[in-house]
Amino acid sequence: MSIADYERLQRIQFEAEGYGQSTQAVRAGQHRSLEGEHSDPIYATSSYVFSSAREAAARFGGDEAGNIYSRFTNPTVQFFEERIATMEGGERAVATASGMAAILSTCLALLQQGDHVVCSRSVFGSTVSLFEKYLTRTGISTTFVDPTSIDAWREAIVPETKMLFLETPSNPLAELTDVVAVAALSKQHELLLVVDNCFCTPVLQQPIKQGADIVIHSATKYLDGQGRCIGGVVVGRDKEMEEVYGFIRTGGACLSPFNAWVFLKGLETLRLRMDAHCRNALDMALWLEQQPGIERVFYAGLPSHPQHELAKQQQTGGFGGVLSFEVTGDQAAAWRFIDATEMVSITGNLGDVKTTITHPASTTHGRMTAEARAEAGIHDNLIRLSVGIEDLDDIKADMCRGLAAI
Ligand SMILES: Cc1ncc(COP(=O)(O)O)c(C=O)c1O
Repeated sequence: MSIADYERLQRIQFEAEGYGQSTQAVRAGQHRSLEGEHSDPIYATSSYVFSSAREAAARFGGDEAGNIYSRFTNPTVQFFEERIATMEGGERAVATASGMAAILSTCLALLQQGDHVVCSRSVFGSTVSLFEKYLTRTGISTTFVDPTSIDAWREAIVPETKMLFLETPSNPLAELTDVVAVAALSKQHELLLVVDNCFCTPVLQQPIKQGADIVIHSATKYLDGQGRCIGGVVVGRDKEMEEVYGFIRTGGACLSPFNAWVFLKGLETLRLRMDAHCRNALDMALWLEQQPGIERVFYAGLPSHPQHELAKQQQTGGFGGVLSFEVTGDQAAAWRFIDATEMVSITGNLGDVKTTITHPASTTHGRMTAEARAEAGIHDNLIRLSVGIEDLDDIKADMCRGLAAI
């Protein structure tokens, strides 16, 4: 390749600033190689070669930039990091092996023994276990609060508090936290506000623009969108991300280049999928609310949801693809409902183009104590539906089979 060709390729590297989010989703983070490929390549390599022993020493010593080893850096992983950081409005992203690795790495990189966290009590079950069981062993304590009450957040802050952690809307009950209000509290006390944005994705909500310091994703969910890979990512300012990166390259919970490539492809269709998920979920929520045998539907898009107005302000373009509902009866009735369905998938994952159905109390939230579940409002008759992009009539027909079995 001539120098002129090389320069031409350099010129067409995409500068994402100033472009809309749909454009960024398909173009940000692309760094074309000398081959001039149109789609992002997968750099399936564990290490990188150096032109000389001197160059190797300079890279290991940090005197020269460049790849060394894929636990530290990998171009495909960096493409994904750059794209999601752009879409979330953060300075930098660090990709991780899973969503839980993203949460663990953030905490271990930015907290230390004696620090205290205030966490929404309505977060993913493994997040509760991580704070309650494992981080306490390192001397990091946590107080769980009602995520909808700003007074509860304020009252739980003590001099040792360093971090506020929340998911909005929450899993599985779709409780919202007012991010702007909690961010103001966080700034007042000089804390770090961390938001797990897995349910909304940057298409529906950009917490950093609302005052959060850090956004976390389980990329396993909507960023992939087709239930193929486990992964996660942390997005924020350079300062904190350098600490998270340092922890990942040492602790080793890095993302594989293949999974990063799947997530890059997922981001390209994220908006189209989220539009379809939101449309279908809203229709299903309104329909389920009318069905005999359904006691209550939890979905922020419903006018009957107590925080519907906040959802309209805080989220743009829709209310998400996940809803939950309580059936008349107990756990046995919920299980009969689930077992009677034929098309939807009985599985713990969500954010897939295929509709998935889950009994949170005995699966995703089964490791919480019965008291903690009761306090969080996750009752035995609750069913979670992650609404996919299939034909609505087919999803409804399956729900009718469930209803008939209660
Ligand atoms: C809101 C939320 N955060 C984090 C996670 C953990 O992600 P992962 O399974 O990728 O570790 C999940 C998983 O279901 C989740 O629902």
